[in-house]
Amino acid sequence: MYPSLQGKVVVITGASTGLGRAMALRFGQEGAKVVVNFYNNGEKADEVVKEIKNSGSDAVAIQGNVMVEEDVKKLVQTAIDSFGKLDIMINNAGVENPVPSHELPLKDWDRVIGTNLTGAFLGSREALKYFVEHDVKGNIINMSSVHEMIPWPLFAHYAASKGGVKLLTETLALEYAPKQIRVNNIGPGAINTPINAEKFADPKQKADVESMIPMGYIGKPEEIAAVAVWLASDESSYVTGITLFADGGMTKYPSFQAGRG
Ligand code: BGC
Repeated sequence: MYPSLQGKVVVITGASTGLGRAMALRFGQEGAKVVVNFYNNGEKADEVVKEIKNSGSDAVAIQGNVMVEEDVKKLVQTAIDSFGKLDIMINNAGVENPVPSHELPLKDWDRVIGTNLTGAFLGSREALKYFVEHDVKGNIINMSSVHEMIPWPLFAHYAASKGGVKLLTETLALEYAPKQIRVNNIGPGAINTPINAEKFADPKQKADVESMIPMGYIGKPEEIAAVAVWLASDESSYVTGITLFADGGMTKYPSFQAGRG
């Protein structure tokens, strides 16, 4: 548990399912108040709110598209209106779809870059605006991926978006460090979430992915949430501008295991 998170106000984008949901629940357990953003899954978002309230903290659900400036402004405003302030912004909303790059439609490119990279920019900008105006030593966490460093055929738009998130985070960390505002990335590997549900439902594909993970298993959403609460807490007070990979070793060139190469 992280006592420094008690009473903190956190906005989490894409929080009705997957990693966002796991983080929202964990922040609630830590006594933080959570703005649960969702895009199209209002019922699931309401369930997350209910669970957080049952665990003794407070939360509110709000619809919004992270690509739309006005919607993102509304997220910060909701934190202020509902809970009086903003302390932590987690830009988590993300999408992906496989397409050979020579056939990749511009609309898919725009959707993936728009959600994953522009969404992280807009969320960061609105949070920074609030932190600077109110002299808050705030905290921003962006959701990157192992694919901020590992190229990924059929997912050029996704890999490009995460490469962008890496340097967005590093740049913002450097720019706002003098104000004690910290900006970090989490870089998950293969995690058991709805984005991967179809892939991992097929035992062959699941085993194939597992063979690329030195620790040998697909991560749990809670293992990412555990990283998020540490990064948002005072326990990581001197950490800014990093990507904390939580990937079971996937970024460590698993094909070289057992002395191959
Ligand atoms: C993607 C997953 C993928 C994992 C490892 C993540 O960023 O969202 O679909 O399994 O990277 O390749």
